[in-house]
Amino acid sequence: MKTNGNTVLITGGATGIGFALAEAFIDADNRVLICGRRRAKLEEAQQKLPQIQVRQCDLSKQADRESLFNWVKDRYQDLNILVNNAGIQRAIGFKKGAVDLLRGEDEVQVNFIAPIHLSACFAPLLMAKKEAAIINVSSGLAFVPIAAMPVYCATKAGIHIFTVSLRHQLKGTPVKVFEIVPPAVDTELGRGSSRDAEQTHGGIPASEVALETMRALKNDEYEIVVGRAKGLVEGSRKDFEGKFQELNSW
Ligand SMILES: NC(=O)c1ccc[n+]([C@@H]2O[C@H](COP(=O)([O-])OP(=O)(O)OC[C@H]3O[C@@H](n4cnc5c(N)ncnc54)[C@H](OP(=O)(O)O)[C@@H]3O)[C@@H](O)[C@H]2O)c1
Repeated sequence: MKTNGNTVLITGGATGIGFALAEAFIDADNRVLICGRRRAKLEEAQQKLPQIQVRQCDLSKQADRESLFNWVKDRYQDLNILVNNAGIQRAIGFKKGAVDLLRGEDEVQVNFIAPIHLSACFAPLLMAKKEAAIINVSSGLAFVPIAAMPVYCATKAGIHIFTVSLRHQLKGTPVKVFEIVPPAVDTELGRGSSRDAEQTHGGIPASEVALETMRALKNDEYEIVVGRAKGLVEGSRKDFEGKFQELNSW
């Protein structure tokens, strides 16, 4: 699809992969809207990219998702790309019963329900465009999980399967459905639940994910498997147990 002249909404676009995508879309001459919970992060992003429009919202809440949709529909009728990028990641131990599970933020709402709900809200609006896209961000861990983050991996596996179905449902409409499958990327993801808030989980720079995404969009490559995530996707299809042991042997 064409990668310029679009109007793009990127959830979680103030940081990490979302911000790198925002930069790449702006560099390619697109209009970009982003949303997130932290006002300071939205303002920081807007200082770096004065062209972007920002909206504060908490995607774990149905009312916020609906008001995000109404904000876009009322003000940015030319929106033709939705990027479901916002996500959270938590380590959850089940030997302790429901203590960990119920203590933190709800990964199911943010990573799974929100992209599905937003896809449903935006689909009719996108179908009325000449060319449009829904881009869901899953993970290499959708294909082989790290067992310490079981709910995160399950939501990402769910998003992968949902994306495959959505692509099939929207075939023959102007809406192309893409999936970005990143490997480990050096962002803030999961830092809230790690012992050291400053600790990064390493990985490639977010800009590499953005670069690969723009290339793949241009070529209509719907499954955008980035870098080392390829080993997990291929391994899950050929040698799931081997890849599972590789990720969970520590
Ligand atoms: N980093 C990796 O290694 C990696 C690998 C594979 C896939 N991914 C996926 O890539 C996506 C982006 O993550 P990232 O690595 O770039 O981490 P990140 O920098 O932490 O980005 C996540 C973004 O989502 C927003 N967000 C979280 N909860 C939200 C909520 N309830 N409502 C609205 N916005 C919310 C955050 O902003 P606020 O906190 O201000 O709301 C933040 O801007 C996620 O879906 C993640 O699962 C990441």
